Amino acid sequence: MIPHTPGASEVSLKDRINTDLLPKHVAIIMDGNGRWARMRGKVRTYGHRHGVRSVREAAEAAAELGIKYLTLYAFSTENWKRPRAEVNALMRLLVQTIHRETKTLHENRIRLKAIGDLDSLPDHIYRELNDTIRETAHYEQMDLILAISYSSRWEIIKAVRQIAEMAKDQKLDPRDIDQQLFRKCLITSEFPDPELLIRTSGEYRISNFLLWQIAYAELYFSPKLWPDFRREDLYEALIDFQGRERRFGKTTEQVKTSCRG
Ligand code: IPE
Ligand code: IPE
Ligand code: MG
Repeated sequence: MIPHTPGASEVSLKDRINTDLLPKHVAIIMDGNGRWARMRGKVRTYGHRHGVRSVREAAEAAAELGIKYLTLYAFSTENWKRPRAEVNALMRLLVQTIHRETKTLHENRIRLKAIGDLDSLPDHIYRELNDTIRETAHYEQMDLILAISYSSRWEIIKAVRQIAEMAKDQKLDPRDIDQQLFRKCLITSEFPDPELLIRTSGEYRISNFLLWQIAYAELYFSPKLWPDFRREDLYEALIDFQGRERRFGKTTEQVKTSCRG
């Protein structure tokens, strides 16, 4: 792993993170690129380009800390409805970023994965993505999961269809449908549910992201616009997460007792 030389504020924040209590899986809704560009009198794609550094910082910082899964919401199903020029620019940026940041993946031993309706992507993007996924498949430091052309309702409907087909073919008794089976039919089935979901840009919504999987995730909303998001911001989110009591429906007393073992 490439050593990163930290600044003073970063050291103190990083030191406050208890590495024994890290979430295994962090998911981020990277929002605010357009507003970041507008504030500078630029076109929206200028903001998207500047968001790449934040992606790199978040991935490197998460891998260094020992987070095992980082899912980044890069492009939603609904984002296809944006002006064509913006969609095209985002697609171009996606290939460029995957291409240029392959080095970051190798240096940090990060395995690239993708979730979403990948068949809807232009061919060359699909190919580039798959090449990098194959090239990094042996790394085990962290999975970086890009959600591209992803929406949670799309994923859920896909799972429901699969279950209905199995029932129709009499491979499944509807009475056997439970949470475990449903989970297995989701495209995210190989990853644990995220314990922490971060959204940038001061918006308080989920925008069709991992609805099933975040049932018990801690939500963290950052006012920072995505291109301004730095590793310190990830550290702050993790410190905040570690200060919370996760009760899963139980009482504080029960949770404290089980912590004492
Ligand atoms: C997030 O930034 C990137 C994508 C959704 C692709 P936005 O483009 O949504 O920026 P804002 O929210 O309009 O500022
Ligand atoms: C969510 O951001 C999708 C991604 C970050 C890829 P949007 O900007 O598309 O969400 P809304 O439209 O503000 O809910
Ligand atoms: Mg947005």
